[in-house]
Amino acid sequence: MSSIPENILRQYQDLVEELNNHNHSYYVLDDPTVPDIEYDRQLRELQSIEGLYPDIITLDSPSQRVGGAALSSFSQIKHALPMLSLDNAFNNTELQEFERRLKDRLNSNDDIEYVCEPKLDGAAVSLLYKDGALIYGATRGDGSVGEDITTNVRTIRSVPLKLHGDNIPSTLEVRGEIYLPLSGFDALNAAALLSGDKTFVNPRNAAAGSLRQLDSKVTASRPLEMCAYSVGQYLADRVPETHEGMLSALRGWGFKINDLVETVKDIAACENYYQRLAERRESLPYDIDGIVYKVNSLQLQERLGFVAKAPRWAIARKFPAQEEMTQLIDVEFQVGRTGAITPVARLEPVFVGGVTVSNATLHNGDEINRLGVQIGDTVIIRRAGDVIPQIAKVVLDRRPENALPVVFPERCPVCQSMVRRTDGEAVARCSGGLFCGAQIKEAIKHFASRKAMDIDGLGDRLVELMVDESVIFSVADLYDLNVDKLVKLERMAEKSASNLIVAIAASKKTTLAKFLYALGIREVGEATAHTLAKNFGSIELIAKASVDELLEIDDVGPIVARYIVNFFQNPDNLSIIQALRDAGVEWEDIDLSSLEAQPLKGQTWVLTGGMEIMSRAEAKDELQALGAKVASSVSAKTTQVVAAPGAGSKLTKAKTLDIAVMDEQQFVSFLANYK
Ligand code: IVH
Repeated sequence: MSSIPENILRQYQDLVEELNNHNHSYYVLDDPTVPDIEYDRQLRELQSIEGLYPDIITLDSPSQRVGGAALSSFSQIKHALPMLSLDNAFNNTELQEFERRLKDRLNSNDDIEYVCEPKLDGAAVSLLYKDGALIYGATRGDGSVGEDITTNVRTIRSVPLKLHGDNIPSTLEVRGEIYLPLSGFDALNAAALLSGDKTFVNPRNAAAGSLRQLDSKVTASRPLEMCAYSVGQYLADRVPETHEGMLSALRGWGFKINDLVETVKDIAACENYYQRLAERRESLPYDIDGIVYKVNSLQLQERLGFVAKAPRWAIARKFPAQEEMTQLIDVEFQVGRTGAITPVARLEPVFVGGVTVSNATLHNGDEINRLGVQIGDTVIIRRAGDVIPQIAKVVLDRRPENALPVVFPERCPVCQSMVRRTDGEAVARCSGGLFCGAQIKEAIKHFASRKAMDIDGLGDRLVELMVDESVIFSVADLYDLNVDKLVKLERMAEKSASNLIVAIAASKKTTLAKFLYALGIREVGEATAHTLAKNFGSIELIAKASVDELLEIDDVGPIVARYIVNFFQNPDNLSIIQALRDAGVEWEDIDLSSLEAQPLKGQTWVLTGGMEIMSRAEAKDELQALGAKVASSVSAKTTQVVAAPGAGSKLTKAKTLDIAVMDEQQFVSFLANYK
């Protein structure tokens, strides 16, 4: 290192430290301290020094997180202390029995304090630190010998390469879980689908698979995270007295500790924690398969000791499984509003992720081929988070002899029109348009929905019934309905019939944007409808617009532009619009000359938190009327953030990016200026 000038060395060391601190704030604390652009600038500075002086590179340099040369195999590592597993409790009684055993063994009836931790569903790791430097990372293996995955572990940003803070043990074996958040898992599988690669069944397999890559660059490309939950070997002058104290020491040295960890005073509070976490399970951004309860006092832990391969002082309370096996009884094909044909799996009902599931989506024909699924097969159903249940895998070993291939229909199952698939699109569609009963039903449901014409009381079942009974054939027929026609329908009382007629009449007064959205033009969602209304002012001008004119508008790309032009070229659509206007559907055209009166034109606003003075929808409408775009996430392009009570990560991000923030009261006063 003699050839490295002193000032460069100092600059380099400062950069390593600063970048590692930024990394820690971003990946461990979820609280970024500098904008991404500043981080990138410093990283480039560091890399240019490393380019000029390769000898300067230290193992804890953030540049070393991108992965290195591929290995030919993993070597083995013996854990200093064995990695244990946990006993399970599947219900509250088993949990009570666990505590009874503890109290018997301790010969005491005193309340026991516990630490409650989410049981993250990933892969266990052991990390060895000597004098604060990461020496190796190993898988659990058989509990006493694991595989050396150091090069892979180094790429994970929430794994500290060097510990910081005080009282760092001379030897520290940290135990924790490496996991893939659901967003990362979905992105990984979406990319695998596109490239025709095999998808992962669940985030746990994806995390374990990512850790067992011989090429650490692959691991580096996966958004893995690590939370620490205990220690193995621990050589230090001072040892905490509680597990809670140990976790906070780990946090202080730079590890991520799950933010839902809680210390509670007795076993009753453990059950309460279970109830609370079970309610939140669906909305967590990662998979958990239960809760781990650990006796908080390390002295009590020592007295309780171990049995076989599990500690006596801890237990895992399991949640209902998110994966189950069941049988595929049939595949039906549903037709959506745009004619998209979706295969739906009918399943032998099975309890998974806390609910009974009897249907799962199969998405499209490619998915059926990819899974290679046949009717009669045993399949693994996965239901995690609030997403629709999926078939994750076929259990080929269990395929019965009479299994039948799934045949994608050539004709629409509802109207018998030909099914077509555009090149490059995964979705097959019925070509029947509004001749297809299924498409008519979906079009009417969409037309009546809240963000469209907002017809109160016109639910999906009623729409289906009215189309099946030939009471209506299109959206325009809604305005011809009367109480007499409605009461002839099954289970339609006079009172609800007249309420519905009132609601239909009330829907006639609308806005251009809502009407456009209600028409159900492909790819024209609420935001695009708004933009079109704002830029053209009237339906006549939109109907006359060419693809080129449409393309001049923000947010309108070539595909949407083509759909819009096609829609207004279709005489059936034009006559429906005319019929609706004849029936009295009306809105105010937008005076384009008053567009200068849109003082917020070109600005992007973000609303966050729980608004209390006005509803979020009202706030959005008002902002759009003033010309602003309302976005759902904060970025460098955001002009202004309105942070209502309870605002969280968006507010933090706005502060990091130095974006103007106002509270709800300030926002209301701000709007008042324009009234
Ligand atoms: S404690 C003696 N705590 O669950 C300590 N384990 O069989 C043993 N796991 O694969 C583990 N979250 O990786 C503990 N907060 C947590 C955990 C946890 C997930 C995993 C662990 C192992 C399995 C336990």
